[in-house]
Amino acid sequence: MSSYILLTGGAGYIGSHTALCLLRAGYNVISFDNFSNSSAESLKRVEQLAGRTLLSITGDIRDQAALTAVFSQYKISAVVHFAGLKAVGESTELPLHYYDNNVSGTVTLCRVMRHFNVKKLVFSSSATVYGDAKEVPIKETSPRSATNPYGQSKLMIELILEDLVKAEPDWSIALLRYFNPVGADESGQIGEDPNGIPNNLMPFISQVAVGKRQQLSVFGNDYPTKDGTGVRDYIHVVDLANGHLKALQYLEQSKGIEAINLGTGVGYSVLDMVNAFSEVNQVAVPYQIAPRRPGDIAVCYAEPTKALTLLGWKTEKTLDDMVRDTWRWQKHNPNGYRS
Ligand code: NAD
Ligand code: UD1
Repeated sequence: MSSYILLTGGAGYIGSHTALCLLRAGYNVISFDNFSNSSAESLKRVEQLAGRTLLSITGDIRDQAALTAVFSQYKISAVVHFAGLKAVGESTELPLHYYDNNVSGTVTLCRVMRHFNVKKLVFSSSATVYGDAKEVPIKETSPRSATNPYGQSKLMIELILEDLVKAEPDWSIALLRYFNPVGADESGQIGEDPNGIPNNLMPFISQVAVGKRQQLSVFGNDYPTKDGTGVRDYIHVVDLANGHLKALQYLEQSKGIEAINLGTGVGYSVLDMVNAFSEVNQVAVPYQIAPRRPGDIAVCYAEPTKALTLLGWKTEKTLDDMVRDTWRWQKHNPNGYRS
C-alpha cells in the first residue's frame, strides 16, 4: 500500500505550491480542504504542472468523522497542516470562528492522527507569534506574544503542540514560522487568489498594476526605517514550499518539536516593494501615503540560520523573482482562478 502526505488546506496559496513541490519530489499527496478560501481549480493546475495526479478530498478539519475516514482508507505517513483562517481584521470581528476553526480544528486533527499513530506534523505558524519583537533579526528564541485573535490562535496551537510532545515524546513536529509569503510558481498558473479587497501588500500592488484598484495606500511613512515605511521579510512562495519538503525530510529522522523561521533574513520597505514591482515589470503602481494601519509594526525580519543548520534550507529566489512571478500570475489570471 503506497503512503501519502496529507495536506490540510492543500488547495490554498501555500498548500498548492507545496503540493506541486511534493509531487515533483515523488511523494503521493492528498489534499483535505473545505474550500472556504480556495477553489478546486488550483489543484487541477497543480496536477497539470506536475504531470501527476493527487487526491483531493473536500472536508473540514473540525469534522472528526471525515478525517477518520481519510486515515482509515489511506496510509498517511505525515501531515502538513495549512488549513486555517488568516485575515487579521476579520479575526477581531469573529474571534469564536477563528478559535474554533484554527484551534479546535487542530486539536481534532491531532486526535485523529494520534488514533492512527501518525505522529509527524508540519504546522503553518507565523512570524505573527513574535508580536512586536524588540530585536531584529528575530530568532526563534525571541519572546512570543499576540495582539489579535488570528495571532493568538497560532500561538495557542504552538503551545498545544508543545504540550502534546511533552506528554508523548514520540511525536515529530516542526512549527514553521513563515515571514511574508509572496510570489507565485514561475509558470504563472498558480498563485495567491484573495477574496475581495486584499489585506496584504503584494496582492494589493498587483491588483493596482493590473487596473483592478486605483492606487495603493501606503500605511504610514513615519516609522523609524530608512524611508519611513514598514519593513518586512518577503519570502518567495516557491522557496517556502521547498522548506516544507526539507522539514518533512528532517522529521523522518528526528523526534520532538522545533520552531523554525522561514524567511530570507533581509527586510524590504513598502516603497522598495512598489519600486521593484514597477521597475522589473515596467508597469505603473500609483500610490498615496495614508495613516498607519492599527496593529502594524515597524520592522520584522528573520534570523534564518536555524533552518539552514537543521533543514539544510535557505531561500534562493530574489526580490526580482518575487515581483516578476507575482505579476505573471496576476496578468494571466486577472480574476484569479475565476478568470
Ligand atoms: P489560504 O487561505 O490560501 O489557505 C488555507 C486553506 O485552508 C484554504 O484552502 C482554506 O479553504 C482551507 N481551510 C481553512 N479552514 C479549513 C478547515 N476548517 N478545514 C479544511 N480546510 C480549511 O492561506 P495560505 O496563505 O495558503 O496559508 C496557509 C497557512 O499558513 C494558514 O494556516 C496561514 O495562517 C499560515 N500563514 C500564512 C501566511 C501568509 O501570509 N499567507 C503567513 C503566515 C502563516
Ligand atoms: C500581516 C498580518 C500578519 C500576518 C502577515 C502574513 C496584519 C496587521 N498583520 O502582516 O498577522 O502574519 O500579514 O500574512 O494584518 N501595507 C501597505 N498597504 C497595504 C497593505 C500593506 O502599506 O495596502 C504595508 C503594511 O503596513 C506593512 C507591509 O505593507 O508594512 C506588509 O503588510 P502585509 O502584507 O499586510 O503583512 P504584515 O503587516 O507583515
